[in-house]
Amino acid sequence: MKKLLTERLELRLWQPSDVNDLYEYAKDPQVGPNAGWSAHENIKESQRIVDLFIKDADVYAIVLKSENKVIGSLGLHDRTIENESPSDLKQREIGYVLNPKYWGKGIMPEVVKTVIEYGFEELGLDLIWCCHFDFNNKSKSVIHKSGFNYRFTTTKTLPNLNNKEVNQLCYSITKEEYFTAEASVSRRR
Ligand SMILES: CC(C)(COP(=O)(O)OP(=O)(O)OC[C@H]1O[C@@H](n2cnc3c(N)ncnc32)[C@H](O)[C@@H]1OP(=O)(O)O)[C@@H](O)C(=O)NCCC(=O)NCCS
Repeated sequence: MKKLLTERLELRLWQPSDVNDLYEYAKDPQVGPNAGWSAHENIKESQRIVDLFIKDADVYAIVLKSENKVIGSLGLHDRTIENESPSDLKQREIGYVLNPKYWGKGIMPEVVKTVIEYGFEELGLDLIWCCHFDFNNKSKSVIHKSGFNYRFTTTKTLPNLNNKEVNQLCYSITKEEYFTAEASVSRRR
């Protein structure tokens, strides 16, 4: 994944020195449980996750340029969504979290818009997914603002949250939907 820039943010790969910034938000119970993982109990847990992010290289660190600080993450995961039959479409699933100190400023919609553009225009993807749990209205709002279309609801068991059962709503954008919307925006310019 190449480095991406938005007006306020830089999206880059993770570095070992990002661990304190990750722990600052990963220990907050408002963050992980809304995304399917439990709050970090100590910095060692955050260290393990930074190591994984560095190894897998499919998760961006979201850096707030004005503070030169990592304030969240966005994964662009190479996976097929459950409930969908395997296909040879080139698809990715977006997942994200943000440090609660920075919520409500339109930061994640700014990030998601740029990653969608990158996915379709540079990676040549056919399809991008994004899902949220039915109780997560903040993520639902980001997904709606980012132009995703609702596809289906499924039930999931979350192994990292004591096997809690949740309903998950899944949305996607196809490349046809993306380029049709882009063409209509350019016509209006
Ligand atoms: C979902 C999340 C990334 C949103 O990022 P963001 O940059 O704050 O997005 P926005 O600024 O567009 O705000 C999204 C909504 O949250 C609302 N919101 C922001 N801060 C809030 C707060 N403290 N309490 C209640 N609502 C809040 C906003 O009003 C907005 O709703 P609106 O569009 O109807 O006005 C962030 O809330 C988060 O990290 N949540 C925890 C992890 C998570 O849920 N990840 C997604 C898993 S699918």
